[in-house]
Amino acid sequence: MPGTVEDVDAPSASDVLRRCRELVRPALVDAVGRLHPWTGEMAAYALGWSDTAGTPEPGGSEGKGVRQALALLGAEAVGADAACAVPGAVAVELVHTFSLLHDDVMDADALRRRRPAVWKAYGTGPAVLAGDALLARAVTGLAETPGDHAAAAVRRLCDALNDLVAGQAEDLRFEHRPWDGPGAVGPEEYRSMAEGKTGALLGCALALGAVLGGAPEPTVAALDRAGRHLGLAFQAVDDILGIWGDPATTGKPVHADLHRGKKTHPVLAALAGGSRAARELGTLLASSRPTDGAAAERVASLVEEAGGRAATRGEARRHLDAARDALRATPLTRTAARELDVLFAGLANRVM
Ligand code: IPE
Ligand code: MG
Ligand code: MG
Repeated sequence: MPGTVEDVDAPSASDVLRRCRELVRPALVDAVGRLHPWTGEMAAYALGWSDTAGTPEPGGSEGKGVRQALALLGAEAVGADAACAVPGAVAVELVHTFSLLHDDVMDADALRRRRPAVWKAYGTGPAVLAGDALLARAVTGLAETPGDHAAAAVRRLCDALNDLVAGQAEDLRFEHRPWDGPGAVGPEEYRSMAEGKTGALLGCALALGAVLGGAPEPTVAALDRAGRHLGLAFQAVDDILGIWGDPATTGKPVHADLHRGKKTHPVLAALAGGSRAARELGTLLASSRPTDGAAAERVASLVEEAGGRAATRGEARRHLDAARDALRATPLTRTAARELDVLFAGLANRVM
């Protein structure tokens, strides 16, 4: 059967992620080492390298390193050596860590990757400062990239940062919008918010790899588009995990989005359905926020009954397909394109 040998040889998503983490690690350690020792200690904690006493915790609560992998694969996909994308990989990983530190403050989430969030462990002021330090270091490091592509790379990172901040602004403002009626959050508004807060940086990671690899603009734009669709699929899955995920697996509390009135895809899709369960859900959400466990369970089961969970799975699948289509429509090197495909599927399928 054609392709069988290649499929057998294809690495798994975790193989790809591991290879990329190992390539980026020395430069990431160096970047964190350039921070003020106090912000560096918080950064090392946030990255899962050490505990609050600064004691190394190898592999403890490290993230998957999706963004750094996308940057390296972006370069390989345009025929360049992964090494040229390492400054981009470091930058997106630092920006991601910064965004999580600040996001947990904004969302008042006390747990991240099974451990106290940085603001819980060190205090809100220090956590905000550590985030600022990571952001400043990310931009500085990228601006210092040797060769001719530093300015274009910094420009792309800043564009993504502006989109990320706008997405976070929408996410927070939506908490105060009604679930139903004329002021309700529409599907396009949800999509724009999710693309900004999650898609922009994933798109930027892939695009940065291509920029640093010297690719032409149409290729860079196609990779950016693929990453943004991946982000929308990823956020749909994240929304599902926020309602039905197991905290032991996600490392984050369940129902926090419901408690805060976050306008997540499953709930919006359920309300749009118009069924009896949808009407009951609308009445329940209009009367009060589900602030205790039993109320949140009731909301979760009505969302499921009204088809919200299935609709969000469909949304994730559609965006995964769109991400893969964007890759296939672009001339990319074979091995990297296959690794990207494996990685995309692994990320979008983490609960489905
Ligand atoms: C996080 O979005 C987006 C950024 C950090 C920019 P969420 O708030 O939905 O993500 P989690 O669930 O806290 O990881
Ligand atoms: Mg959050
Ligand atoms: Mg948030």
